[in-house]
Amino acid sequence: MNKEKTFYVTTPIYYPSDRLHIGHAYTTVAADSITRFKKMKGFDTMFLTGSDEHGQKIERKAKQAGQEPEEYVDQIVKTFKELWQALGIEYDYFIRTTEDRHQKVVQKIFKKLYDNGDIYKGHYEGWYCTPDEAFWTDRQVGKEKLCPDCGRPVEWVEEESYFFKMGKYAQRLLDHIDQHPEFIQPESRRNEMINFIKQGLDDLSVSRTTFDWGVPVPIDNDHVIYVWIDALSNYITAIGYLTDQDNFKHYWPADIHLVGKDILRFHSIIWPIILMALDLPLPKQVFGHGWLLSETGKMSKSRGNVVDPIQLIEDFGIDPIRYYLLREVLFGTDGTYSTEALIQRINSDLANDLGNLLNRTVSMVEQYFAKVVPEPDQLKEVDQDLINTGLKTAKEVESYLSNLKFTHALESLWNFVRRSNKYIDQTEPWILGRDKDNNKDKEKRLKTVLYNLLEALRMIAVMLKPFMVKAPSEIGKQIGDQSIVENADWEDLSWGKLSSKIKVQKSEPIFPRIDIREYFNKKQKKEQEKTMTNENNNNSKDNLIDFETFQKLDLRVAEIIEAERIEDSNKLIKLQVKVADDNRQLVAGIAKDYQAEELVGKKIVIVYNLKPAEIFGVKSNGMILAASNDETLTLITPENPISSGSKVK
Ligand code: ME8
Ligand code: MG
Repeated sequence: MNKEKTFYVTTPIYYPSDRLHIGHAYTTVAADSITRFKKMKGFDTMFLTGSDEHGQKIERKAKQAGQEPEEYVDQIVKTFKELWQALGIEYDYFIRTTEDRHQKVVQKIFKKLYDNGDIYKGHYEGWYCTPDEAFWTDRQVGKEKLCPDCGRPVEWVEEESYFFKMGKYAQRLLDHIDQHPEFIQPESRRNEMINFIKQGLDDLSVSRTTFDWGVPVPIDNDHVIYVWIDALSNYITAIGYLTDQDNFKHYWPADIHLVGKDILRFHSIIWPIILMALDLPLPKQVFGHGWLLSETGKMSKSRGNVVDPIQLIEDFGIDPIRYYLLREVLFGTDGTYSTEALIQRINSDLANDLGNLLNRTVSMVEQYFAKVVPEPDQLKEVDQDLINTGLKTAKEVESYLSNLKFTHALESLWNFVRRSNKYIDQTEPWILGRDKDNNKDKEKRLKTVLYNLLEALRMIAVMLKPFMVKAPSEIGKQIGDQSIVENADWEDLSWGKLSSKIKVQKSEPIFPRIDIREYFNKKQKKEQEKTMTNENNNNSKDNLIDFETFQKLDLRVAEIIEAERIEDSNKLIKLQVKVADDNRQLVAGIAKDYQAEELVGKKIVIVYNLKPAEIFGVKSNGMILAASNDETLTLITPENPISSGSKVK
C-alpha cells in the first residue's frame, strides 16, 4: 500500500454518560463526509470513532442506575452505534476504552513515560469539577466554589497523584506550531492555544486514587490512570500501536483529529506532548469546530434543550439532516440549530432546486423520447457554459472539501444545480418538443438539451456522494443508471459519461416538501396527547400532591407589555410580558375570549419555571393561568395592584 495515499481521521470518543444529541452528530457527519470524499479520491482511509468509558462520572451514573459500570456502558454504547448507523456513518473502527487491547497499551504508555522520567509521584490538592473532570484554583472557583466552566459546585480533593512533566516540552511544541501553521485549525483558535502555552504549562495530574473505574497504573495498584492518558491514547491504540506496528505505521500520524472547541486544548497541547514524550510523530492537524447551539443556548441534557437526532431522522430522513448540518453551520464557528431553518432548507434547496431539476428533466425524457436517454448533437454556447460550470464546480467542491469547508462546497454545488435549472429556462425544451416531429433540427436540439441535463444530474449526484447516503443512487436510478453513480470516483467528474439508449425511470420525488404549519401542528398534538396520557396515568394512581410538589411551581405576577394574534391560528396570542426585570415571550390559547389590544397593561399570573417550548413555531417561555369551563375562559388577575414579579403562593 502506498503510504502517501492513506487518510486517517478521528472524532472524539464520547462519554457514555449522556445521550448523544445533534451536536455530537455534527462532528461524526463531518468526519464521515470527508472520509467518503477521500475514498473517492483513491485514498486508503481509516475513520475512527468510539466511546470514552472510564472515570468517576460514569462510575457514579452506573451506581445511580443500580448497575455495574460494565453493564451500564454496554447498554449506552449500543445506542451510540445505532445512532451512527441511522445517520449512515461508515466508521472503520469503533474503539471502546474498556477493551482489553486498549487498556494494556495504555498501561505500557504510562510505564514508558514513567521510565523516561516524564512522570513522577507527587501530591495533589485542588478544587475538582466531577462532571467536567477538571481541576480549578482557589481564585477560579471564587467564593461560591463553582466551576468556572459549567457553574456547578466543585469539590475539594486532596490526594496522592502521579504527575506528567509537560513544561519540559513546551518550547518544542511552540516551535512545532510555528513551523506547521496547519497544525491547529481554525486560525483564531490556534492563537488561543499559543497564548495558553506561553503562560507556562503546569505539571499535569495523570492518576487518581478516589475511584476505581479506570485503567490501573501499572506500577502502583492504588492508582488508576486519569482521563487524558487513557482517552487520548485511543487514537494510537485503535490502529495497533505496540500491538500491530505495521498497521500503526501505515496510518500514523493521523491526518485530522476533529474535536469540539471545548476539548481543543487537550488535543493540541496535552496530546502532542504525550506523543513527543513517546517519540512519535504528531498528527498533521487538530481541527476545533464550534458548537451547535439550540435556540435557548448550548445543548445539554440538564437544560432540557437537546435535539434528539433519531427523532429528526424519523421526521425528515437521513440526507436532509446531513445536508443541513454541513450546509447551515460554517465548520469552525458556532451555529444555532432550528427546525424551521431545517425545513426551509429542505423545501428550498432540496425539494425545489434539486428535486425539481430531476423531476422536470426525467419527465421530459419520458414524454419526448419514450424514456430513452437521447444522444447529444452539436453544442451551442449555452451548452458549453453549462458544461464548464459543471467542471469548474467539481474543482471547487474538491478544493473546499479538502479544507473542511463543507458549507462552501455545498454552496458551490448548489450554484451548479441552479445553473442547470436556468439552462432549462434558457433552452425552452417544451417549445422544441412541440415542433420536434416535423423539424429535425429541433429534435436534434432537444436531444442535446435533455442529454446535457441528465449529464448535469449525474455530475451532481456524484458530487453529492460525500454528503449524502441515499439520494445519489436514487438520482442515478432515475436518470437510468444507478451503478454509474454508485461506482463513480471523483475522476468520473468529466463530461459525457452517461450512455445514451438506456432508459430513465421516473419515481416519487426524492425530497418531498414539508408543510411547515402542518409539521408543527402535528408535533404539538403529539405533545398534548403525551401530556394527557401522563396526566391520566397520574390521576389513576392518586389525585393528591404533597406540599413539596406544589412548591416546585414558581407562580408570578406578570404584566403584559405587547400582545399579537398568531397568524393562521384562531386560538393563539403571542405575549411579551414583564416579570420584575425579566422580559419574556409566551404563547397563550386565549384568542377566542380576548382581543390582543385589550390585553396590554393587564397584570396576570404565569407559571414562571415552565420548560420553554415552541408552539406553532413560536417560542413560549412560561404559561399564563386562566380559569375555564365549557363556555368561557377568564384570566386570573391579582385583586389589588401589586408589582410584577411578585410571587403567587
Ligand atoms: O469530551 N455542538 O466527550 P463528550 C457541537 N470523552 N459539538 C458538541 C456539542 C454541541 N452542542 N456538545 C458536545 C469528551 N459536543 C471526551 C473526549 S477525546 C480523546 C475525549 C462535542 O461526550 C464536544 O465538543 O463530552 C466534544 O468534541 C464531543 O462532543 C465529545 O463530548
Ligand atoms: Mg464534554
